[in-house]
Amino acid sequence: MKRKANYPILPLILNRWSPRAMTGEEMSDEELMPLFEAARWSPSSYNNQPWRFIYAKRGTPAWKTFFDLMVEFNQSWTKNAAALVVVVSKKTFDHNQKPCRTHSFDTGSAWMALALEASHRGLVTHGMEGFDFAKAAKALHIPDDYQVEAMVAIGKKAPKESLPEEMQKKEEPSDRRPLKEIVMEGKFRA
Ligand SMILES: Cc1cc2nc3c(=O)[nH]c(=O)nc-3n(C[C@H](O)[C@H](O)[C@H](O)COP(=O)(O)O)c2cc1C
Repeated sequence: MKRKANYPILPLILNRWSPRAMTGEEMSDEELMPLFEAARWSPSSYNNQPWRFIYAKRGTPAWKTFFDLMVEFNQSWTKNAAALVVVVSKKTFDHNQKPCRTHSFDTGSAWMALALEASHRGLVTHGMEGFDFAKAAKALHIPDDYQVEAMVAIGKKAPKESLPEEMQKKEEPSDRRPLKEIVMEGKFRA
C-alpha cells in the first residue's frame, strides 16, 4: 500500500510506519540515545516533561524481564529487536505536586518524536499495548505517581521475508481514516 496524503505534509510524517521485521542486531548507545534525545525536546504542560523511558538492550540481564512482560504475539517478533522500552509518565507536576491532566498527552508527543527520529535514521520503532502493565510497574519498580503508558520495540530493519508468512501480509504502511472523520468545526460530530 502506498500512502497518499490529501495535503502536502512532511515526508518524514507520512513515511513513518511500524515494521515488525528486525535483524536481531544490537544497537550501540550512539545509535539508541539520539532517539531519546529527540523525545526530550517535546512540548508539555508547564514544561513538566512527564515522559520517562526505561529500556533494556538485547544481551543484557534486564532484557528477559522486559521480554517476559509481553504477550506471546509481540514476543514472536520483538525477539529480534535491539531494545525494548517501557514508556512511563509522571502524573503530577514537579512544581506543586498537583495532578497533571495531560501527562499522557505530553508523553504521547514524546514517543512520536522518538519514532520520527528513528524513522529518519532508517530504524524501526513499534509501539505496543500487548503487555502486562501491572507486572511492568512491579518488575521495574515504578512509583505510584507514575503511569505505565506503552512499550516500544526498537531495532534495525530486516526484509519482510524474515517474518512468518502471516505477519508478512501486514508488513506494510497502513492507511488512515479520512480527514473529515477526525476534524470537526464548531462542535462534536459523531
Ligand atoms: C500505543 C500503541 C500500542 C500498540 N500496540 C501494538 C501491539 O501490542 N502489537 C503490535 O503488533 N502493534 C501494536 N501497535 C502498532 C499499531 O498497530 C500501529 O501503529 C498502527 O496500526 C498504525 O500503523 P503504523 O504505525 O505502521 O502507521 C501499537 C501502536 C501504538 C502507538
